[in-house]
Amino acid sequence: MRRLEGKSALISGAARGIGRAFAQAYVREGATVAISDIDPEAAERTAKEIGTGAYAVQLDVTDLGSIDRAVKTAEERTGGLDILVNNAALFDLAPIVEISRESYDRLFAVNVAGTLFMLQAAARSMIARGKGGRIINMASQAGRRGEALVAVYCATKAAVISLTQSAGLDLIKHGINVNAIAPGVVDGEHWDHVDSLFARYENRAPGEKKKLVGAAVPYGRMGTAQDLVGMAIFLASAEADYIVAQTYNVDGGNWMS
Ligand SMILES: NC(=O)c1ccc[n+]([C@@H]2O[C@H](COP(=O)([O-])OP(=O)(O)OC[C@H]3O[C@@H](n4cnc5c(N)ncnc54)[C@H](O)[C@@H]3O)[C@@H](O)[C@H]2O)c1
Repeated sequence: MRRLEGKSALISGAARGIGRAFAQAYVREGATVAISDIDPEAAERTAKEIGTGAYAVQLDVTDLGSIDRAVKTAEERTGGLDILVNNAALFDLAPIVEISRESYDRLFAVNVAGTLFMLQAAARSMIARGKGGRIINMASQAGRRGEALVAVYCATKAAVISLTQSAGLDLIKHGINVNAIAPGVVDGEHWDHVDSLFARYENRAPGEKKKLVGAAVPYGRMGTAQDLVGMAIFLASAEADYIVAQTYNVDGGNWMS
């Protein structure tokens, strides 16, 4: 039996990476998925590649009007939103003495305000419909502890864990379960960018940081987007009905909590 049969999901930042893998998996499990992303061409491409069950929606999670339009599109297209995955995020890296106000504002706007106001718009829609729902936020091991060069990103992901707790506690009375996934290090375009930043600030050869972080994972390698798919399906499914306000580590053993 398909676990998300007939469900309507919206995944932010789904044009590539982890969001894209989740979208593919949700469609496979019977859901209709809004591939929403700030990059409309990539979203269209991804939706076409996934095929029936996926459609593209332009979304900038820093823009309240854009958030409302995306949620409305999902409602009109499918008859009501059941699942939101708050996946869009930005990464940056700098020593404390070099962090710019611009980088701080950009990361908090997407990773924190974007998560909160997406969650709010989805919750309003789900409450009005009266059928409950599921909200899954993408946190990170970076939200579990600080890192010398990663202060701002770590702080945004700690905020995502906190928002998951508060929203989870507030929204469960409406039958809306809010939980989060904290991945460790996941190979893909995102980590290629992270690797290039570490190469600059730690004076490393390209690819070296990736090798180091992969070797340090207790499981023995970096994660892949596919490694996270099981948790994303589970948290969206009926089996997770009694799970509220939690953040699950899916990280090959990198972090224990
Ligand atoms: N890759 C990792 O190692 C890793 C580890 C821990 C947590 N995560 C988290 O998992 C999630 C997905 O990561 P990924 O590696 O797939 O990232 P990615 O950079 O590959 O994809 C992010 C997507 O978000 C989109 N996006 C950016 N700004 C947006 C905005 N304002 N509005 C809408 N869309 C926007 C981008 O266009 C992109 O398609 C993120 O929340 C990330 O922080 C990733």
